[in-house]
Amino acid sequence: MNATAVIIIAIAAAVVLGALAFTTLARRTDVRGAGALSGETVRRDASARAAKTDVAPSGATAAEVEAAGVAARTGVAVAPVEKESSLTPWVPPDPDALGVSRRQFFNRATISLMAAGIGTFSAAAFVAFLWPTKTGGFGSKVSVGRYDDVISGIRSGNGFFYAPEARAWITMYPAEALPKGEKVYEASMLPGLQKGLIAQYQKCPHLGCRVPQCLSSQWFECGCHGSQYNRVGEKKGGPAPRGMDHFPLAFSAAGDVTVDTGTIVRGQPIGTNTTGQEAEGPHCVGASEH
Ligand code: FES
Repeated sequence: MNATAVIIIAIAAAVVLGALAFTTLARRTDVRGAGALSGETVRRDASARAAKTDVAPSGATAAEVEAAGVAARTGVAVAPVEKESSLTPWVPPDPDALGVSRRQFFNRATISLMAAGIGTFSAAAFVAFLWPTKTGGFGSKVSVGRYDDVISGIRSGNGFFYAPEARAWITMYPAEALPKGEKVYEASMLPGLQKGLIAQYQKCPHLGCRVPQCLSSQWFECGCHGSQYNRVGEKKGGPAPRGMDHFPLAFSAAGDVTVDTGTIVRGQPIGTNTTGQEAEGPHCVGASEH
């Protein structure tokens, strides 16, 4: 699933949630705003009115029934006295109250939609921020310039060219070592070797320190625990379990050099020595063990 699909799903989910919130608010506000009564309430009111009516089942009013009872008991005719009804007259809903309810409805709907919009934007931004990009920088194919410029950079760096964006060292791979190198290095490394270049990952295979070049010995020498590697990253000493890891190099027809930092090629086993390069001067750090 790519980033676009994830963002579309997040937006769709937020829109559905917003629609649900909108619908819920509309229903609840409708009930309050129109003053509508539930069926149960209507039935209860009807039965209460029937209970309070002053009309007896025979058709006589309660006052007439009461007067007849008094006459029957006392033998004196009494005029029925009608009592005032206790029913509360119906009052139509206040139009202003209805207006307030509509305002509440629109206010809440607006706030809900704004919240849904902000939530959608935040979710999309969060997903986009976390989603790994492979469009440049370490972990992807990093352009380090034109071939001639890389060669010039190695010469001006006294044998070492550092590409910070690729976190890699690029050095010359001797043409005379190529027959051995083609037997030892994996296929992805061969285009670089055949062009006389090799790229080393700066991370020490021992415990991960950044390995610097040593201009006097013309090796790489790790300051953390003293691991040493020749100029093409093959292990010469120290506690590292293998040579420096590598990145494949690619060359365009226009002469641009690319380091594939998404493909880490495991360093050569201890004892590999395709170039036969020995230290060319004093070491920068002493190897702690060999
Ligand atoms: S991290 Fe380089 S030698 Fe230990």
